[in-house]
Amino acid sequence: MNAPLYRIPGVPAAAAPADTPAPQAPVATDGARSMGEVLAQSQVEPVLAELERDLVGLAPIKARIRDIAALLVIDKLRANLGLTSQAPPLHMSFTGNPGTGKTTVALRMAQILHRLGYVRQGHLVAVTRDDLVGQYIGHTAPKTKEVLKKAMGGVLFIDEAYYLYRPDNERDYGQEAIEILLQVMENQRDDLVVIVAGYKDRMDTFFQSNPGLSSRIAHHLDFPDYSEGELMQIAQKMLTEQHYRFGDGTHEAFERYLAQRLTQPHFANARSVRNALDRARLRQASRLFADRERELTADDLCTLAPQDILASRVFRQGGAA
Ligand SMILES: Nc1ncnc2c1ncn2[C@@H]1O[C@H](COP(=O)(O)OP(=O)(O)OP(=O)(O)O)[C@@H](O)[C@H]1O
Ligand SMILES: [Mg+2]
Repeated sequence: MNAPLYRIPGVPAAAAPADTPAPQAPVATDGARSMGEVLAQSQVEPVLAELERDLVGLAPIKARIRDIAALLVIDKLRANLGLTSQAPPLHMSFTGNPGTGKTTVALRMAQILHRLGYVRQGHLVAVTRDDLVGQYIGHTAPKTKEVLKKAMGGVLFIDEAYYLYRPDNERDYGQEAIEILLQVMENQRDDLVVIVAGYKDRMDTFFQSNPGLSSRIAHHLDFPDYSEGELMQIAQKMLTEQHYRFGDGTHEAFERYLAQRLTQPHFANARSVRNALDRARLRQASRLFADRERELTADDLCTLAPQDILASRVFRQGGAA
């Protein structure tokens, strides 16, 4: 049910041509007078329920999103009664460590904004500095404008947004991209929502140096790291989605894996869990492949054994994979 995620540049053409985002059902909340009517007409509740169900943990983030949705529903009712004329400020900042769910939640946010009629299409365009900033004079403005054109009617998600600002280099073109972004954030806020994302401390410094940007961000969401218990639940969810399961003793092996991996560098929360499971599946495949004579049952094909986890480099001195 996810809205399409456009990565620029280099989107596989088959995924969806980036210039022509798939049209989605129009949202008709005009004329609604009660909360129930707006919620029923906009279909925002199923998205909130899905968010609740599909994502492990993230209680403070889920609560903030419900608050934002409530604010938007009330704003719709006020607009229908002629009490509001301007779109509410909706630009956001998502801070947190790698793999804490920022991109995943941004996709859901795009759906919610679309269902409530705040953006026409509800697609998400995810970019980094290199997609916005050119290498040579005169290249940045057309690059940034092209990205903005693609994102119009949806959400522009700028990952590691602080790389746009390089105070050490006076003639850095990032500043040019920031200025264009600021104008569009102000003037076209009824059709484009910008979400900047990245590490919290770096984002704070970035905002301090760019008060214009900071003052245009209405909602700051700070994504916590997952606990070990939550990471185990995320692992279970990922396995179930892919029709795999832990065999006897594998759950414990994966707990040991996580405890060890957490102490090593570059730990990236749910992303590290996904990568670890991908590698466990590779090891399972090699294990089954090696046994040519055996007839493989569905159970064999679906089950990860403890050794598929315990063979990880993480258990060797100094390993980090
Ligand atoms: N709460 C969660 N429940 C289930 N799966 C999750 C959760 N959070 C993240 N994931 C999964 O973990 C992976 C990484 O999440 P995501 O890409 O959203 O994180 P991110 O914060 O954007 O990371 P990065 O900083 O690396 O871009 C995705 O495959 C996502 O589906
Ligand atoms: Mg991300």
